[in-house]
Amino acid sequence: RRTLRWLWRFTYLGVIGFLGYTGYTIYLLRTPSEQDEADPRKKTLVILGTGWGAVSLLKKLDTENYNVIVISPRNFFLFTPLLPSCTTGTIEHRSIMEPVRNILRHKKTTVKYYEAEATKIDYQKKVVYINDDSEIKGDTSSTEVPFDMLVVGVGAENATFGIPGVREYSCFLKEVGDAQQIRKRIMDCVETASFKDQSPEERKRLLHMVVVGGGPTGVEFAGELQDFFEQDLKKWVPEIVDNFHVTLVEALPNVLPMFSKQLIDYTEKSFKEESITIRTKTMVKNVTDKTIEAEFTRPDGTKEKEILPYGLLVWATGNALRPVVKDLMSQIPAQKDSRRGLAVNEYLVVNGTENIWAVGDCAIANYAPTAQVASQEGAFLARLFNSLAKTETINAELANLSVEQAKATGEERTQALNNIKALQKQLRRVKQIGPFEYSHQGSLAYIGHDKAVADISWLSGNIASGGTITYWFWKSAYVNMCFSTRNRMLVLVDWVKSYIFGRDVSRE
Ligand code: FAD
Ligand code: NAI
Repeated sequence: RRTLRWLWRFTYLGVIGFLGYTGYTIYLLRTPSEQDEADPRKKTLVILGTGWGAVSLLKKLDTENYNVIVISPRNFFLFTPLLPSCTTGTIEHRSIMEPVRNILRHKKTTVKYYEAEATKIDYQKKVVYINDDSEIKGDTSSTEVPFDMLVVGVGAENATFGIPGVREYSCFLKEVGDAQQIRKRIMDCVETASFKDQSPEERKRLLHMVVVGGGPTGVEFAGELQDFFEQDLKKWVPEIVDNFHVTLVEALPNVLPMFSKQLIDYTEKSFKEESITIRTKTMVKNVTDKTIEAEFTRPDGTKEKEILPYGLLVWATGNALRPVVKDLMSQIPAQKDSRRGLAVNEYLVVNGTENIWAVGDCAIANYAPTAQVASQEGAFLARLFNSLAKTETINAELANLSVEQAKATGEERTQALNNIKALQKQLRRVKQIGPFEYSHQGSLAYIGHDKAVADISWLSGNIASGGTITYWFWKSAYVNMCFSTRNRMLVLVDWVKSYIFGRDVSRE
């Protein structure tokens, strides 16, 4: 009984502590302190983008050292790993968005934000041309922003490889708007298939959900969609049961090429059990409003043409360069051999420039284009810029002290010399920033039916695991990685909500 009493006291204190901590965190989030004004004499650091790379830089940057200006057409950070869950309403899209204004308002010194797209970077004139592409425009909707230092973190756009019909007829899965469009179209296909007098072939076509691209985006979306069907659609629209079908089309011999062989096999086996068809070695060549035309490579190497009718087509075949990045590359001779993005050195400086850095999907630093890489690169740049600023301040102080020391005599001179030594020591410590080194934590992907796969780096080896326990690991890892306490809470509430009440099948 004594033990029980102690246990009860500990639990009680634990709960009170947790509630207190959460309450205090929320209070801090809601009440940002006064900010210092940026000093116009300091260098202007312009950051393009509000994605993984840029936000990770902003989070750790000491903004009092620079005049920081952020430019991005998206005034929020998007937690992309949970975006596939928004396509079916398992998670609401606002739960994984964090307003950039909140992020910037919590910095010590003010940061300017312009909701605009960078249309051109003139690296010699040190100017970025920007354009307000939003619905509402003022008298001025395009202008230029000069910079002393520039960080390009604009990410990438969807690769279509110039395949006809892709842009017109398919949905992508990169932004919040894409997920909303997919969610709407799934229900549109379902309701149209149930329309009075719809022919059986047309019903079958409308309920054929095709995903092109067997990378993690395509696999996660296919898994989420099948879950939606199994757990909700089947119940509320029983007439579609016989015809609803998900097909994943991949040009390579297997899906998830970046995962270990064992997990690829596990995923393919799980998809089979979930009744998702995987069509590997099938390269899509053309898309029309109702069909995709693909080329299948038989085991003997011969090719076969196939026509697949579809109702919904989701295109997830990876990344392509954004026009602003392409344009910048074309201005810099040192970038002429780079094809997939801005080639950078080990300090993430864009090759051929001195004051432009690149992070994330638009930079080529020999790592995969992932959130993990982008956020580590952003954090590295924050450390580098903080250290550069400190170095400059110390150098200025040293210069002053040297003048003082030259004029001083006796005790004062000794004091000045001691100060110089202390500053030189500080300078050596600050300067010790090595080149960027990526630390791979592992890869995770949800594959549907409450299962996930994980290739986790552990000590100097790798642990590959797949299944329901991995799914709980996936959930806890991603909820932990969410940007803020608010995001974390919203995501948890969404999970509980869709578990208890099911997903919403209304078409907005
Ligand atoms: P982004 O995060 O894409 O941000 C680019 C920013 O630049 C945006 O704010 C955009 O609005 C802005 N921008 C665009 N054009 C301009 C312009 N002209 N001027 C100014 N700003 C501009 N990676 C993982 O490691 N783990 C995962 O689980 C994972 N899941 C994913 C799921 C999905 C559905 C997707 C699409 C990607 C996923 N990724 C994942 C990959 C990851 O999201 C990207 O690698 C990461 O977002 C790259 O970060 P970034 O900062 O380079 O670009
Ligand atoms: P991807 O580049 O990883 O995969 C695209 C796939 O599409 C490739 O396997 C390619 O062979 C295939 N493909 C290309 N053209 C095709 C065609 N015409 N017909 C059929 N198949 C075709 O792209 P994805 O999945 O969008 O991922 C982009 C990046 O984001 C990757 O670096 C990925 O690692 C990362 N990411 C990571 C996630 C995770 O870790 N869970 C989730 C989503 C993305």
